Amino acid sequence: MALIPGLDAIAYGGDYNPEQWPEQVWKEDVELMREAGVNLVSVGVFAWSMLEPSPGRYDFGWLDRNLDLLHRAGIAVDLATPTAAPPPWFLHRHPDAAPVTHDGTRLGGAARQSFCPSSPAYARAAAGITEQLARRYAGHPAVVLWHAHNEYGQANATCWCPVSAAAFRDWLRGRYRDLDALNAAWGTAFWSQRYGDWAEIQPPVLAPTAVNPAQQLDYARFSSDAHLANFRRERDLLHRLAPGVPVTTNFMLANCKNIDYWRWAGEVDLVANDHYLQAERADNHIELALCADLTRSVAGGRPWLLMEHSTSAVSWQPRNVAKEPGELRRNSVAHLARGADGVMFFQWRASRSGAEKFHSAMLPHGGTGTRIWREVVELGAELGRLGVLRGTTVTADVALLWDWESWWGLELDWRPSRELAFRERQEAFYEALWRDHRTVDFVHPEAPLASYPLVVAPASYLLTATAAEHLHRYVDGGGTLLVSYFSGIVDEHDAVHPGGHPGALRDLLGLTVDEFLPLPAGARVRLDDGRTGDVWSERLVLRGAQALADYADGPAAGQPAITRHSSGRGRAYYVSTRLTGADLAALTGTAAREAGLPAPVDLPDTMELVRRRGDAGTFLIAVNHGDTDATVPGSGVELISGAPVAGGFRVSAGGVRVLHES
Ligand code: GLA
Repeated sequence: MALIPGLDAIAYGGDYNPEQWPEQVWKEDVELMREAGVNLVSVGVFAWSMLEPSPGRYDFGWLDRNLDLLHRAGIAVDLATPTAAPPPWFLHRHPDAAPVTHDGTRLGGAARQSFCPSSPAYARAAAGITEQLARRYAGHPAVVLWHAHNEYGQANATCWCPVSAAAFRDWLRGRYRDLDALNAAWGTAFWSQRYGDWAEIQPPVLAPTAVNPAQQLDYARFSSDAHLANFRRERDLLHRLAPGVPVTTNFMLANCKNIDYWRWAGEVDLVANDHYLQAERADNHIELALCADLTRSVAGGRPWLLMEHSTSAVSWQPRNVAKEPGELRRNSVAHLARGADGVMFFQWRASRSGAEKFHSAMLPHGGTGTRIWREVVELGAELGRLGVLRGTTVTADVALLWDWESWWGLELDWRPSRELAFRERQEAFYEALWRDHRTVDFVHPEAPLASYPLVVAPASYLLTATAAEHLHRYVDGGGTLLVSYFSGIVDEHDAVHPGGHPGALRDLLGLTVDEFLPLPAGARVRLDDGRTGDVWSERLVLRGAQALADYADGPAAGQPAITRHSSGRGRAYYVSTRLTGADLAALTGTAAREAGLPAPVDLPDTMELVRRRGDAGTFLIAVNHGDTDATVPGSGVELISGAPVAGGFRVSAGGVRVLHES
């Protein structure tokens, strides 16, 4: 099944903002798009004030002409609703729809995303322009995809205004029905917070000291849902008025903490993601792989669309380091390897004005004489040769539990250590597996696990009783589970699971935590097998588990540090300190072996290897992030060069190869 029914190639293109340019430029745009192999562009993402210059007065002439021009050139359109950037008239008329920050500051409008997600005035205005676009462009032959809004929650994830407060109370009434249930869930007996009337409830705004954590969790849920309601409204209008064309929006996996994308996964017709490298990080290609795997996981394993990445530097990091020659290609193919069926950029042509004029583009300020342009044209040609990958899927053998609620909970105020960090642990375990060439799916803790020989639970602080039972069944059925410290501690209301830590996982792990022993900044503890940990340690009492390594020093000297517990037909590992690098890789390696995974392939850990499979066979995608050439075993046909391969193929330093295996 094609990702986008109206497009029969790997999608290639980017955000196209013709409204920023005189119409004479459009002809050149389209000619150059064809030269680069562009087949899909996202149009109108921020064009609201050009489409509706004053409330209810529309100007679609320029968009009609632009879409017709694109269509004549054979370039398909991902048409956006421009609702992420309300025009100046909107806040002028509705000043109370401007977002308010945590400390009560009302924000201005001379930017984008300046609206409160719960504002009824915003909802009406956004529905108005969405309806007009849907009616006008329903059936337009260029439009193959709808792009609702842009990056929901990117700059206005959480609003703290009185309108949001009222919407929060409504949301709470829906969740708890009566105040007693809310008081119990929020533990309001603590610090005299018992509510006697719904009207007394406020958002968890800045307060003299730590704010009720359960209230903060619910505000995070409410805020994610407020954006989801805005998406649903637009999607439903588009489905009704312009049927037959899929609707999506661009997610920000895994860098957006504020949106619970598991709740959004089933709401979009296809999953699209934006990814930007953290330019100064040496290992940013591993972070890219994590985000791509998380995107595929949210897409339920189906192909997805890379809606945005950059050809080179971005414009919003402290130092906007440019990509090296060849890096744009490696990044693009790495996304493709992990299930993307399209590679798109922000943006087509670099802007002359505005906040993002120093952001790279497919067509730089310097035009077609530039390195970036040459690489863009080469990539377009290569993607044209990889069309056979479309619709194929990736099979993972390891699952990492990932839960936005756990992320929110873990990083609230007054945890036992400020160094308990969700992303850090996810990335550490992911990296250890990546370097062993393992392919990873991310799963919600309550999602099916039976197909994974190995499941890893990094930083799973918040775990419901249902999730814990589910993990127990997985292990008893023969699975291998690896759990990191400070997991299974609280339920969905941030209330401690009773009976001693880690309450949700105690029986499964065969131990209790007698005391948390967080370490001072910079301190390290040695284990008796030579490994060292930092940040965290615990005094464990084994109740059936067996110690694999003990603490050699530190506050738990002589006590177990890493354990293994047999349960049913499976086993559960536990690590009570923060291991990194090779020390952590040794542990994931042990668990992988016991899970029955094949030994890691004997290739440098800078060689990224992923397989996609489909009716046409299997495809081995190799991306060499190292600075020496390497040979990957395999036979078949290399698709970029068209060369036959017998026994092995060479991937040059910094190069990419795609083998159609025989
Ligand atoms: C985001 C937005 C784009 C653009 C890029 C710049 O992803 O969706 O409009 O601002 O960032 O990197």
